Amino acid sequence: MTDAERILYLRRELHRHNHNYYVLNNPEISDKEFDDMMHELQDLELFHPELDDPNSPTRRVGSDISKEFAQVAHRYPMLSLGNTYSEADVREFYERVRKLLNEDFEVCCELKFDGTSISLVYEDGKLVRAVTRGDGEKGDDVTQNVKTIRSIPLMLHGDYPRSFEIRGEILMPWESFETLNKEREAREEPLFANPRNAASGTLKSQNPAVVASRKLDAYLYYLLGEDIPGESHYENMQQAASWGFRISEHMKLARSFNEILDYIAYWDTERKNLPVATDGIVLKVNNLKQQQRLGYTAKSPRWAIAYKFQAERALTRLNRVTYQVGRTGAVTPVANLEPVQLSGTVVKRASLHNADIIEGFDLHIGDMVYVEKGGEIIPKITGVDTGSRSFMLGDKVRFITHCPECGSKLVRYEGEAAYYCPNETTCPPQIKGRIEHFISRKAMAIDGLGPETVDLFYRIGLIKDCADLYTLQARDIAGLERMGEKSAVNIIHGIADSRQVPFERVLFALGIRFVGATVAKVLASHFKSIDELKDATLTQLMEVNEIGEKIAQSIREYFSNETNLDIIERLRKAGVQLEREEKDEEQLSDSLSGLSIVISGVFAHHSRDEYKHMIEQHGGKNVGSVSAKTSFILAGENMGPAKLEKAAKLGVKIVSEEEFLHMIGS
Ligand code: IVH
Repeated sequence: MTDAERILYLRRELHRHNHNYYVLNNPEISDKEFDDMMHELQDLELFHPELDDPNSPTRRVGSDISKEFAQVAHRYPMLSLGNTYSEADVREFYERVRKLLNEDFEVCCELKFDGTSISLVYEDGKLVRAVTRGDGEKGDDVTQNVKTIRSIPLMLHGDYPRSFEIRGEILMPWESFETLNKEREAREEPLFANPRNAASGTLKSQNPAVVASRKLDAYLYYLLGEDIPGESHYENMQQAASWGFRISEHMKLARSFNEILDYIAYWDTERKNLPVATDGIVLKVNNLKQQQRLGYTAKSPRWAIAYKFQAERALTRLNRVTYQVGRTGAVTPVANLEPVQLSGTVVKRASLHNADIIEGFDLHIGDMVYVEKGGEIIPKITGVDTGSRSFMLGDKVRFITHCPECGSKLVRYEGEAAYYCPNETTCPPQIKGRIEHFISRKAMAIDGLGPETVDLFYRIGLIKDCADLYTLQARDIAGLERMGEKSAVNIIHGIADSRQVPFERVLFALGIRFVGATVAKVLASHFKSIDELKDATLTQLMEVNEIGEKIAQSIREYFSNETNLDIIERLRKAGVQLEREEKDEEQLSDSLSGLSIVISGVFAHHSRDEYKHMIEQHGGKNVGSVSAKTSFILAGENMGPAKLEKAAKLGVKIVSEEEFLHMIGS
């Protein structure tokens, strides 16, 4: 194979694997194999600039070139939709269409995605241009940025028209949005108000590498062009899916007004379980000829309409502000509200985030405040209705200066929005919070113990830190509130079993500030024992990959505290793992020796990466795709149909998660 052929081959394969992974959620090869192919392609392209292709999968990575966006005219204007807010409005739309058409018609019901709209132009199966809506006539050319979005195909497959335009919505999934805002908060950068702003802000970034890092997604919902294949919108969307586009799987054809209402009622609540923000339903007359007959008004099509969900917002009175102290001592202000109904539940309390937000709202007791449920479970205050303030203004809300639990003077660390109670050693919620963290699933995973039990044990003086757990006796706790003999024994067993928990998780369980599960893992693979870590200097700590000054300092602080050193000594006596066991990283067994194993689907007990690791630890080999040489497939839920079929054809065995764990004796 010549280099040129190899380049073409790699590009084709990488486009295909991208689609499998990002659109179909069904990867055929491992991440490593994907990365290897990508690196090979990058290297080859470096040597062959003459074979440059602006749509090569390597362009997804995002370059550093920044430039002003060029303005581009839309071939077809980007119209908006008429909005409706009630069932009556929807009925009006339906009746109008019925009168105008005077024949049977179907309505395609779909979700109204709340992101930023985009127009994509494809020529000969290649993405040539991506333009924002702009003023509807012309928009910004954001092609380079859009190319970094993995679910937007750069190259199509199947039987696509030579030239067409497809429109859709670019979105930032809730999860990415929350992570992004957390990172911004830590860096004291302004927060994005909602995923829509985050998506459009990101899309307008001058740096494609930033866009690439922000995990945007896209759904396409409108196909335009001279030679598009179908006679209906729905058919066109199915076709578009077959060329590689991500189309919502929640589109539905309605043949009556009642079916439309059912769709609206269903999604009004069900949309809360979607990974992306939606703000309504879009209704489109399905048949293209009928669409044409209905035509357009100056601003919007007569064949489509948007129904907007009720904003999930309520107005209620602020009665008082209380303060919660967390495990780290961070103090969170909580608004206590006049109970109000908000999307199915009664809300009495809402988060006020931090002192700056309270100050920003110029909040007074008795104010009428807006409460919203965002993607988070805890509702938040999003505004104050100053118009409804009477001349008798209540007290101004001022952030407390002392800890409500232990009375210590609060401190504010540089670069952080939160106030902290510095009394780590005797402030009750901090102590209980640390014990709760210690026993939690990702830490020591002590069965039978939960926050209520911890609270009880602490209240009656049985424990005052995590090391005390190991001195508990069944007879001390049997007979306590709601505690039978059996649960008492379970708890004691659970605590005893936690002595086997590996060092890296113990390190995480200690609850050292800024040492999360990942950092703990890094530390445990670098320092062999807690003593090595304890003796490490600031410089030595900072030499470790991924450990910055902030973390290093916090570790030093932790080990310079006498109380913490005492806890460690007592944990050591109790037999908790305070050093790395050699077997943590070495071969655990050879029960899978000589076997080639493919992992597929979604798992309940461990992550994919953990399973990969286990396979290696037990002498097996991870392979990406199913072949006759595959020993078995470790299959979770939702294994792709293509893989299943292939496995059946080749007679490759399917092994469930439980069977697998049994095989390796776990
Ligand atoms: S169709 C001519 N379908 O809502 C019809 N729009 O005001 C073009 N939107 O600008 C739009 N989800 O950004 C359509 N399933 C969907 C949509 C959708 C969200 C946005 C789009 C448009 C606005 C309508």
